[in-house]
Amino acid sequence: MQSKEYVKRRKTLMRMMGNDAIAILPSAPVRIRNRDVDYPYRQDSDFLYLTGFEEPESVAVLIPGRKHGQYILFCREKDPEQETWHGRRTGQEGAIETYGADDAFPITDIDDILPGLLEERDRVFYSMGRDPEFDHQLMSWVNSIRERARAGSQAPHEFVSLEYPLHDMRLYKSRAEVSAMRKAAKAAISAHQRAMMYCEPGINEHHIEAELMYEFHLAGTVPSYTPIVGGGDNSCILHYTDNNQLLEDGDLLLIDAGAEHDGYASDITRTFPVNGRFKPAQRDIYELVLAAQEAAIKKAIPGNHWNDPHDAAVKVLTKGLVRLGLLKGRPAQLIRDEAYKRFYMHRTGHWLGLDVHDVGDYRVDEEWRLLEPGMVMTVEPGIYIPAGSKGVARRWWNIGVRIEDDVLITRDGNEVLSRGLTRDPDEIEGLVGSAL
Ligand code: GLY
Ligand code: MN
Ligand code: MN
Repeated sequence: MQSKEYVKRRKTLMRMMGNDAIAILPSAPVRIRNRDVDYPYRQDSDFLYLTGFEEPESVAVLIPGRKHGQYILFCREKDPEQETWHGRRTGQEGAIETYGADDAFPITDIDDILPGLLEERDRVFYSMGRDPEFDHQLMSWVNSIRERARAGSQAPHEFVSLEYPLHDMRLYKSRAEVSAMRKAAKAAISAHQRAMMYCEPGINEHHIEAELMYEFHLAGTVPSYTPIVGGGDNSCILHYTDNNQLLEDGDLLLIDAGAEHDGYASDITRTFPVNGRFKPAQRDIYELVLAAQEAAIKKAIPGNHWNDPHDAAVKVLTKGLVRLGLLKGRPAQLIRDEAYKRFYMHRTGHWLGLDVHDVGDYRVDEEWRLLEPGMVMTVEPGIYIPAGSKGVARRWWNIGVRIEDDVLITRDGNEVLSRGLTRDPDEIEGLVGSAL
């Protein structure tokens, strides 16, 4: 992402904040996995959105209209010994030169500097409650100003949610963001194709996960979430991530896997037969979910509201479940009774962006939000019929099907960013095992 993109974002936010305000954003904390091992570091998405800066132990401060600099970055100092052990640091000079900060200070000096910056402002834009340690630190800075009230110091008197303006900005993707999301989709498309091509009965789910990872890393991306690789009964567990069971002849395999490029996520699901041939019952459910997805994608257009695609999917799925004998009754009544939830218990999508379940309100003024160009959402209907489902014939058991694609709302309709990955059942059959 080019630095002018970040300049634009900071400018937009600062314009909304007004000149009596200050915004403070801490970087994500480092999280310990076990003893001396950390989880792979991932920057906080709000912080990343405004700075592009990927190091921990940083704090970004935006002070609109401040003469001596509006964007201040606190970060780690350069330190040859630490860098030998743990990797390169940008340092304060780099923060200014590469990341466009007007001024930069060592993070160790923040207690001395930040209260002075806060004192100049009335309103603080901050995301309270996300990082309790930092909440506490911020309060201690404010209290240190209050303690000096008799000496004429004035603490800010208004705390405002930073999320409110920022998350609305994040909901509308710029050209540069869409381009990053295309790349995230492309890496995931290759990963899903490879998974299909290397699948055969008798291998383990983790083998398929390895094929996905191969393509993610080959493309220079990381997974945007832990892939779900669930064969047979595991296809009916929505958030299955054990990925360690054998793939059996005759079973379906559900793969939900996305890549992250430049911080931006893709989120794609495909379901296919392990042996390359859908059984009739599997194909019936697959084609029903596909029809539901197509109906939902048709409704993902500007002017429709957020819930229209979901309503469309529910309608197709419920009618189809009645036709297949899995639900009994009149579709309209079954929809009112939410009878479909027995087999379709999640929603049809979510916003997608820097976070897989991206930020942005789904309702505005108590109404579903209208879809507008630049928004990106997933469309991901499914049907899940675990073994032992009461009153359901055995041939339907262990069929879990989800089809998920990433959809950009455009001026004229939409563009499916993940359309390069086939959903056609015949084409999928042709791909499965084709590299073996
Ligand atoms: N991969 C999580 C989801 O589909 O929402
Ligand atoms: Mn999703
Ligand atoms: Mn998904």
